Amino acid sequence: MTKKLFIKTFGCAMNTRDSDHIIAELKEKANYNLTQDAKEADLIILNTCSVREKPEKKLFSEIGSYAAIKKIDAKIGICGCTASALGEEIIKKAPSVDFVLGARNVSKISSIIHKEKAVEIEINHDESNYEFCNNIESNIRALINISIGCDKKCSYCIVPFTRGKEISIPTNLILKEAKARVENGAKEIILLGQNVNNYGTRFSIPHEKINFTKLLQEVSKIDGIERIKFVSPHPLHMDDEFIEEFASNKKISKYIHMPMQSGSNAVLKDMKRGYTREWFLNRVNKIKSLCPDVGIGTDIIVAFPSEKEEDFYDTLDMVKNIEFDTMYSFIYSPRKGTLAFNMKEIDSSIANMRLEILQNLHKQILNKKAKNEINKTHRVMIENVSDKGSEGRSDNGRLIKIDGTKLSIGNFYDVVITKNENGSLFGKTI
Ligand code: SAH
Ligand code: SF4
Ligand code: F3S
Repeated sequence: MTKKLFIKTFGCAMNTRDSDHIIAELKEKANYNLTQDAKEADLIILNTCSVREKPEKKLFSEIGSYAAIKKIDAKIGICGCTASALGEEIIKKAPSVDFVLGARNVSKISSIIHKEKAVEIEINHDESNYEFCNNIESNIRALINISIGCDKKCSYCIVPFTRGKEISIPTNLILKEAKARVENGAKEIILLGQNVNNYGTRFSIPHEKINFTKLLQEVSKIDGIERIKFVSPHPLHMDDEFIEEFASNKKISKYIHMPMQSGSNAVLKDMKRGYTREWFLNRVNKIKSLCPDVGIGTDIIVAFPSEKEEDFYDTLDMVKNIEFDTMYSFIYSPRKGTLAFNMKEIDSSIANMRLEILQNLHKQILNKKAKNEINKTHRVMIENVSDKGSEGRSDNGRLIKIDGTKLSIGNFYDVVITKNENGSLFGKTI
């Protein structure tokens, strides 16, 4: 008999990808179909994120609300990074939970559902050669893992503790999957890893020498792939060869995520990021010089414990100078087990003020940039169509809305920008 699976995914693209795998494995090996209604589910899975403290704390109230509405014999499973970080503690605190399955243990999903109160969070488990069931719903976008784990030890970050050491996935498996997804309708491939441009440093099987630049070249040879994206590259590993490939390869989207974290050398050092503001700027300038219309995104942490006022000004200065097209900004959140955990936190009123100043500055930058877009033409791939019209992304990552016209999802159109409404861009096809 077919059973029903409800899954809620938190966190980053890696978790979204893990959820895809969970769904496919359970569909094929345990006869589950997806439902959007937790009340009718036989299995409720929360795929959790641990990167900041608040969502981790909220997990228990979340479990409580699902336990209250679930069918009497439905099971609850906790997967993902908080599962890795807290393990058994989850079942102790929330006895309604039936199993805990850590990130990088996803291949065990179809067996763990039959075990009572099982906790499987092995941090060294190697899934890099495991071929997951692949009956993922047809989509114009395909997320494909190219590595698991992370070898860096940024002093604020829990990810190396939840996802373990970095292992690259063999190139033939990546290419095989990309081809299968293209045959299934994908036009855009997003290569995933915590450090994508460190690809090829360590495999768990004998493997030919390869780096990220070469992998990009191999992926772009696949017929039918129209756009290649990747997330996240690390600024430290952005060598000239990589930047030149990024700029010259027509299939690579000209949007790049460059997680800066801070603009201050002192803070970058304490964060153990491995680069300076000068290096970061040098890489940005190299990219901009080869690719003038590039879109650049970033992540910034404000109020890292050692961040003084002048360090924060250094961050503002970099943001002003680089004019990021996208910026995700967060207040530092202490994570148990990380190097920075015991450092004295900055007063929350100061932290909030800094975040507000940074975000206001970025809003101004976005407004200015949006105004400059009027009358520019972009090649847009349509991603969503509704009664209101269509929307899609330009090659450099801008979201563009085309009101009143129903275009075909997955097709490309030349669109001229006609209007900017508070930073949102509208255009018409030409
Ligand atoms: N591998 C990526 C980041 C993955 S985590 C990289 O190196 O850039 C995603 C983002 O969460 C990070 O870029 C960082 O900005 C934020 N983050 C990570 N740990 C954090 C913490 N302890 N407090 C606040 N933000 C954090
Ligand atoms: Fe975390 Fe740093 Fe690894 Fe990114 S590179 S996942 S921030 S430890
Ligand atoms: Fe969160 Fe884990 Fe991703 S902590 S950001 S889901 S790697």
